[in-house]
Amino acid sequence: MSVHVQNSRMTTAKLRQMKAEGEKIAMLTSYDFTLAHLLDEAGVDILLVGDSASNVVCGNSYTLPITLEEMIFLTKGVVRAAQHALVVCDMPFGSYQVSEEEAVRNAIRILKESGCDAVKLEGGEEILPSIKHMIQAGVPVMGHLGLTPQSVNQFGGYGLRAKEEAEAEKLLHDAKLLDEAGCFCIVLEKIPAALAQKVTKAVHCPVIGIGAGNGCDGQVLVLHDMLGLNEGFKPKFLRHFAHLAEEVKGAVGEYIKDVKDGSFPSAEESY
Ligand code: KIV
Repeated sequence: MSVHVQNSRMTTAKLRQMKAEGEKIAMLTSYDFTLAHLLDEAGVDILLVGDSASNVVCGNSYTLPITLEEMIFLTKGVVRAAQHALVVCDMPFGSYQVSEEEAVRNAIRILKESGCDAVKLEGGEEILPSIKHMIQAGVPVMGHLGLTPQSVNQFGGYGLRAKEEAEAEKLLHDAKLLDEAGCFCIVLEKIPAALAQKVTKAVHCPVIGIGAGNGCDGQVLVLHDMLGLNEGFKPKFLRHFAHLAEEVKGAVGEYIKDVKDGSFPSAEESY
């Protein structure tokens, strides 16, 4: 007798099938249990515990300071919430650049301690040996090319990448290498839409864009940005799907008023 276990969890195989069938993939960043639960219930396909947590959770102005321990801590909460979505944890700066051995050890540590499904790391050919070893060790890897924020000190800013022919060619070459090495997905950040479309057509794995136009297999945004929680941040590629900064400040303003004028708590709200 065979027992059929229904599995509604997203898998890397399902993502590949979505690309084959032309079904777009919706990915969002996520950093805590409560919001991850809402995103998962809403039906998001991939939850990325991005190292953008360094900015939006910890208040740093760049992604470099966040540590491996902090990423694992945040990822645990997201994993506990995810019933459907695939959970990916960003490998933070310094956790995979020193040596292949250390990179694989840290990737395995992330999977074991957080319970997530996969890791993401930034870069192409220069980190290919580490990526290959991770995949051989059974760690699913998501690549990340184009604007790779951990290299901001080399780039000198967060501007559009791969505008020039030489950088565009290298990006296409890197994407093919990551695909051949077995990455289950590649993120393309802030590159021309035409190049992103070319890469998407050239590789077998799904390509997820952020500031990379509509020709990718899916899209990702930083949750706090798309919910309008960072009022001052509005790059061209970002759409605000809500204006939560106003909502939060309005609700907190009401609370302060009701506390100060003594109308909260009421008799009904008291024991
Ligand atoms: O850390 C992050 O949020 C990311 C996304 C922008 C893809 O890497």
